[in-house]
Order: sequence, then structure tokens, then C-alpha cells
Amino acid sequence: MRVLATRRSPGAAFDELDDVEVLPLAELRESRPDVEGLVVANEPVPLGLLPNLRVVANYGVGYDRVGLEACLERGVVVTNTPGVLDAATADLAFALLLATRRQVVEGDRFVRAGAWRGSWADSRTAEEVTGSTLGIVGLGRIGSAVARRARGFDLRVLYTQRTRVDTDLGEYRELDALLAEADLVTLHVPLTPETRGLIDARRLGLLRDGVCLVNTARGEIVDQEALVRELLSGRIRAGLDVFVGEPHVPPELFGVENVVLTPHLGSATRQAREAMTRLVVDNLLAVERGEPPLTPVSAG
Ligand code: DGY
Repeated sequence: MRVLATRRSPGAAFDELDDVEVLPLAELRESRPDVEGLVVANEPVPLGLLPNLRVVANYGVGYDRVGLEACLERGVVVTNTPGVLDAATADLAFALLLATRRQVVEGDRFVRAGAWRGSWADSRTAEEVTGSTLGIVGLGRIGSAVARRARGFDLRVLYTQRTRVDTDLGEYRELDALLAEADLVTLHVPLTPETRGLIDARRLGLLRDGVCLVNTARGEIVDQEALVRELLSGRIRAGLDVFVGEPHVPPELFGVENVVLTPHLGSATRQAREAMTRLVVDNLLAVERGEPPLTPVSAG
């Protein structure tokens, strides 16, 4: 099966594809009837140029930009990489919670600027992480991994999601109640029509002063303009790994102290990325053999 991959992803598994061509989508301009498999990293699938496409293997768990419905309507199988990046993403969410709450990056900038002459610590004390209340929006695989990490910090965990579950990982709250009660809020819902703009200006206004908001999910889940306004006012703090229209980041944030910015690093560990490649390849090989894919995505 001829496979087109928009990038060469890390790990030896990639070499198991014996007929693969690496081509960024921007360079795909002509119809390619020879291509039956496509590897994308949450990019729009150019169905019109790939008339014989059988399978899209998405390198990532989120597939909001792939165009799932159109693929499924055409009978093209779509797969993603759930599970293998939960630890990496939960670790990063926790890193951002800690860094944001404990002013780690501000401290780093202070030292690098040569400004550490006296103590800054007495005038700029942070709020403690240990013992505070963490609100998890979306208690799926990654949200649950964050909740398990929270135990080591004696955090009180609240969670919200579409359906209330029977769990000892945290106490259920309606979204608004969670936002109004938490000291730390972390987002772990996929981007869907229902979650786009979920944390809008009104809901940002429910956050208490000094709350840290962490987003390692998708920028579009938050009203980014309203978030920028809140951050510029200094009322809340944030750790942001994802943005609307990446890699663009609102330049107003560059000079703001109360936000930590990272370039979509959630799954960027060697272990996670290699496991994602393994799953991408296994899905392609399964479809090639006429077997069911390991991790197919379904509509809805
Ligand atoms: C995902 O898997 O959806 C991540 O955002 C990719 O790093």
C-alpha cells in the first residue's frame, strides 16, 4: 500500500512502511490515485486529490482538523493514537500547573536578567500548590492521569464532564461551579462543536482572583481574546501549551509575567512520540492486510 506521510515521525516503526513518501500537504497539488494510506498530524485531509484513499492514520489523539465526517462518508477509515500520550500530556499539564502557580518561569527570567540582588521571595510570595483545589475539565484518559498525579500533592480534585462517573478520582461539579471553586483549573476535553468556546468570557469571569488556568488540550476551547484580556489585567494566571491558529501566539502575551507559554509540547516526549508512530504504523498495516484497525475513530 502506498502511503503518504506529511512528516517522518520518530521511531523505528516508521521504517516498517515499505512504500512511504514524505510530503508536506502544502506540496500536494496534483491528484494521486496511487496513494491508499495517509499519515497526518491533525491536518485537513485533501480527499479531492486522493481518489483511492483507504485509510487516514492521524499521528495524535485529537483529530478535530482532519475532516472526519467527509472521510467516513467516502468510506475512508480514520485512526488516531489514544492512550500512548496520556502520561506525557498529564506530566506537561502538571508541569504548567506547578510552573504557573510557583512563578518558576518568572523566577528564571528574573535571574537571567541579572536582577537577583536582594530577595524577591518576600515581596512576591506564591500561593502553595499542595492542599489546593484542582478542577479538571474532562475526566477522560488524560484528565484521569492528571487526577492521579494530584494525589501526590494532596490536592482536592473536582472534575466535570458530560456524564458524571462513579470514581474516586475526584468530586463531580457542574462546570460553572467547578470554575468558581477551584484554585487550579486544567482542560482535558477534545475540541468538538460542543467544546469550542466552552470557557467563554462569562466563564473566565467565574474564576477567582489568582486562579491558574492550564490548557494542554486545544486553544479553541477557550475564548482566546477574553483570556488575553484577563491575563493582561493580571487577575488570573495561565499555563498555555495550545493556541488558536498555532503557531501564532497572541503577541500581547509575550510581555506578560503571569502566563507560561509552551509550543504544543503535550505529547512531545520520546516515549510518547515513538509509541504514536508505532500505533500509526500498526493501524496502516492492519488496514493493508484487510483487518480491523486497532484504534479507529467513529463519528459523533
Ligand atoms: C494530540 O495528540 O492531539 C496532540 O495535541 C498532538 O500533540
